[in-house]
Amino acid sequence: MSEAFINSLLSQMTLEEKIGQLNQYAAWGNFDPEVVRQGQAGSVINAAGALTGSSQSESCTAETCNHIQQFALESRLKIPLIFGRDVIHGYRTIFPIPLAQAAAFDPQLAEDAAAVAAREASSDGVKWTFAPMIDIARDPRWGRVAEGSGEDPYLASLLAAAAVRGFQGSDYSAPDKIVACAKHYVGYGAAEGGRDYDAGEISEPTLRDVYLPPYQAAVKAGVGTLMAAFLDLNGVPASANRRLLTDVLRGEWGFDGFVVSDWESVIEVIHHGVAEDRAHAAALALHAGVDMDMASRAYIETLAASLQAGKIPLEDIEEGARRILRIKQRAGLFERPFTDPGQAARPMMTESDRALARRFARQSMVLLKNDVDILPLNPNRFKRILLTGNFLHAKGELFGCWTPDGRSEYVTPLDRAVREVAPKGFDLWEADYVDQALDHASQCDAVVLLVGEYPNRSGENNNVTDLGLPPGQAQFIEAITAMGKPVILVIFAGRPLALGRIVPQVDAVLYAWHPGIEGGAALGEVLFGLEAPTGHLPMTFPRVTGQVPFYYNHKNSGRPLNSPNFFRIRYVDSPSSPLFPFGYGLTYTTFAYNNLRLSSETLQGSLQISAEITNTGSRTGTELAQLYVRDLIGSLTRPVRELKGCQHVTLNPGETRQVTFTLNEADLAFTRADGTFGVEPGRFQVWIAPDSQSGLQGEFSYK
Ligand code: GLC
Repeated sequence: MSEAFINSLLSQMTLEEKIGQLNQYAAWGNFDPEVVRQGQAGSVINAAGALTGSSQSESCTAETCNHIQQFALESRLKIPLIFGRDVIHGYRTIFPIPLAQAAAFDPQLAEDAAAVAAREASSDGVKWTFAPMIDIARDPRWGRVAEGSGEDPYLASLLAAAAVRGFQGSDYSAPDKIVACAKHYVGYGAAEGGRDYDAGEISEPTLRDVYLPPYQAAVKAGVGTLMAAFLDLNGVPASANRRLLTDVLRGEWGFDGFVVSDWESVIEVIHHGVAEDRAHAAALALHAGVDMDMASRAYIETLAASLQAGKIPLEDIEEGARRILRIKQRAGLFERPFTDPGQAARPMMTESDRALARRFARQSMVLLKNDVDILPLNPNRFKRILLTGNFLHAKGELFGCWTPDGRSEYVTPLDRAVREVAPKGFDLWEADYVDQALDHASQCDAVVLLVGEYPNRSGENNNVTDLGLPPGQAQFIEAITAMGKPVILVIFAGRPLALGRIVPQVDAVLYAWHPGIEGGAALGEVLFGLEAPTGHLPMTFPRVTGQVPFYYNHKNSGRPLNSPNFFRIRYVDSPSSPLFPFGYGLTYTTFAYNNLRLSSETLQGSLQISAEITNTGSRTGTELAQLYVRDLIGSLTRPVRELKGCQHVTLNPGETRQVTFTLNEADLAFTRADGTFGVEPGRFQVWIAPDSQSGLQGEFSYK
């Protein structure tokens, strides 16, 4: 099929049928078949009765979707529906939350996980997911940091493209592929105070160089749809921002899919104080470039009259319908509108799916502290180990936010999963209550404390004012550590937490995020050294809440923190440095970096930068070598570091290997003072480093 098919279909459609395609029908349990039979819906979110979001509800099933689709095929032109659902980090096989996935710094893993999610969701009739969420986030008070890839545009762009490839494959008409949706376009993570839905201000250079790149990467990867954000960005509601939704997205990048609003974000243009009423809001959003209206019904209820009144051009309606029909065509819905019952019967959570989830969970865990190499646990050193804390028996709590199709009954409780992978020789005790834990701690050799945030403390509409551990946990840690035994702290969370007063009290800290369906076994494998942790931080970890927003690729200012000047960036009540910087992560061995070399003193076209990395420990280990640059002089101020490359290198004890990165001219481009995008001549610093605050530094010029 081609554009000719779409144009031919459009030419047969009535105005009502064209507007019908722009409406995403939210049934909320009282599904009305006539809405579909009369061609008044282009899409159904979830399926009749299923709720939206992260609450558990009866899933979509192929049977439900096929039943609803039948009504669409009874409509005059038999235009199939596209069923959408939030499949954010797994469908039935729940993978680590996206922020944890980012900690693995492994696009292939992210692509493989998205492919599993697509296979499982499509077998239940879902043909469109509202993922990946690719909003850059610099403020962990915002609950939705859990759903994104953290603070860095380079990493977020790699992962955005990987997720699109995984969900869509090379041809998303394939029965086991689904249409992806890059969201929330754009700048949602800049909501002030970390308050979800609040307004945000982003300068044009920062918008261009930090927040937009992941979307450009998703478009380049062929993403079929985008979702417009809720927020007021620089005074313009994102769902009514024609410059970004049309001039940039389509004019500059050539995006030819469709844009869906976020949930009722069309009519929220009224609440923003930019639209008079539903009709005005609908006209503004459609003209801005929002093709489909999620759930508000403003399009279906007002566009015909607005057209009649000359308030919107027919072209806006027809172009929106055309884009939606184009993606339905690419999704193969005209040929295969129904989910094949045979596919529906395909198994989910297969052994390989779960193995991938376990590997991803392991590789996302970040070892933040490991004094006296207390980890991995060794029965010859610590035989009797106490497991205790609010995550001791965790099942669904390991899923994290946005997992409406996860089923906790398929999760092995954490303590049992840890026991199942424990090597022989350990005597594992458990304690469910604080006083019992203190009693048992006095009889054990070491304590593993399993604490952190319940899943619904992060995710949408779940923001915090205090990044400390949830109430009571700090006291519990203090009581346990007072017993004088080695303490390994395992933290489950949907965001970076402020652990400045916690970390000094314990001997080891392992950040497990919300690790998904196989999180328990993955944790056991890491604790007992069956696998080493290889995660690195995708977001800066503050000491205290008052430091945020806080991120590594910040500007130098005129009085930088490291200036000798007494008058410099600082707090009088806390060190100003991060507790743990972006890119940081330990493992069960150590590495040394030596012999930084540049292929030239000047970058012409490209430049090779290499260094030797040596495993200086006693175990085989994997290091994440990171490449950072700094543009020392610019027509605008430039970040003190920018990540431009990363690669894993696995080394045996004593082994040395040279890692090489290639820096291209394009890697140095930025949005300059005159608004153009390009490279400026001058001097640059470059690092090959284990994190964003250390490493071997060199210098080169660009003429
Ligand atoms: C929500 C979220 C969005 C989600 C949509 C559908 O409000 O903002 O991420 O995809 O509604 O559930």
